[in-house]
Formats: sequence, C-alpha cells, structure tokens
Amino acid sequence: MKKVIKNSIVLLALIALITSCDRSKRTPNLQYFPNMYEPVSYETYGVNPIYENGMASRLPVAGTIARGSEFPFEYENTIEGYDLAKEALKNPLDSTMVDLKKGKQLYEIYCTSCHGTKGEGQGELVKREKFLGIPKFKDREITEGSIYHVIMYGKNMMGSHASQLTEEERWQVVAYVQELRNN
Ligand code: HEC
Repeated sequence: MKKVIKNSIVLLALIALITSCDRSKRTPNLQYFPNMYEPVSYETYGVNPIYENGMASRLPVAGTIARGSEFPFEYENTIEGYDLAKEALKNPLDSTMVDLKKGKQLYEIYCTSCHGTKGEGQGELVKREKFLGIPKFKDREITEGSIYHVIMYGKNMMGSHASQLTEEERWQVVAYVQELRNN
C-alpha cells in the first residue's frame, strides 16, 4: 500500500511537471490575467475608429512648442529682418540674469579668433591674415537686437553661430559684446 501511494505521488508530480511546461515559447498556455495580454485601452500607435484619421494618438495642436525647445526666431534673415531686430528686439535677460563672466567665456570660445579679445577686430585669424574685414565693435552702430540677429544668421563673411549657442547663451554673448563696446 505504501508503495502504491509513493508511486502515485511520483506520477502526479510528473504529470504536473509535464503539463506545466510551456509547449510553445511564444504563447503562454494559460492567461491568468488576460487584460494584461489583451488590453482594453487603445494601443499608442494603434487604431481608434472614433477619430477621423483612425489613429489612436492625437497630433499636437498646430503651433505647439515642445517643452525645453527654443521659441521660433521671428525675425527673417533679410536686411529688413536685421533692421527690425535692431530696433525692436530686446535682451530678455534682466540685469540680475546677465552673467558677464559667462558671456566672456563664450565670446572667447566663439568670437575672439576673429574679433579679438577686446572686440577691436584684431583676432588671431586677422593677425595671421587668414581673415580680413573684421570691424571694431565700436565702429559699428549696433544694438542688442542687431547683435543677436548677427549671431543667429551671420552677416556677409561672418557665419551663423546659432547652432553653437543656446538662446540664453547668445544673449549672454550679446551683453558681453555691448560691454566691450562701452568700455
Ligand atoms: C570667422 C570670423 C568671425 C567669427 C568667428 C565671428 N565673426 Fe562677427 N563678424 C565677422 C565679419 C567678417 C564681420 C563683418 C560683417 C559685415 O558687416 O560685412 C563681423 C561682424 C560682426 C558684428 C557687426 C555686425 C553689424 O551689424 O555691423 C557683430 C556684432 C559680430 N560680428 C559679432 C560676433 C559674435 C558675437 C561672434 C561670436 C559668437 C562673432 N561675431 C564671430 C567675422 C566673424
């Protein structure tokens, strides 16, 4: 009798082991919580017949600006755009936010090679005659708006520096150029 019980326990254990084995690797044999496999909500990139275009995801409203990205620059890369910026575009950083140390640092990385450390137009590239026609900032009638426009788009032989600097950094450089001009 003892042996029979022992054998049947072994047999039961074997059956349990075999039936519990996943026969197909891809689909589970038993879904304990089917909602987890077959969600009732719409899939992100799935179909939703309620909407006209049939997409489950909504597109952002026209004119939406992603968080953390820059506001579009509304002045055009034209002489009119330059003139408009010169007149109307103001530095959004107030006196407590302007950081001349940071402005100087960025200026020395991106501008000194042509404009010189003092903005006198005698940068290393000019001294080595690699680049000509760099103006002294003091000789130009420039405003915070026009300096920003020139950083964004460049001017004649000067290229755009928009991609090297963030919006805030550009304004720090603008403040530093004005500082050089006034001293
Ligand atoms: C490769 C050389 C070069 C570099 C680098 C350079 N510039 Fe210039 N920049 C020029 C030249 C050339 C001009 C003259 C453009 C003209 O008026 O024809 C100029 C002109 C300017 C003017 C006067 C524009 C006006 O409205 O009259 C400003 C302001 C200026 N640059 C700022 C900067 C700042 C700020 C940087 C750094 C972010 C910089 N530049 C980097 C070559 C350079």
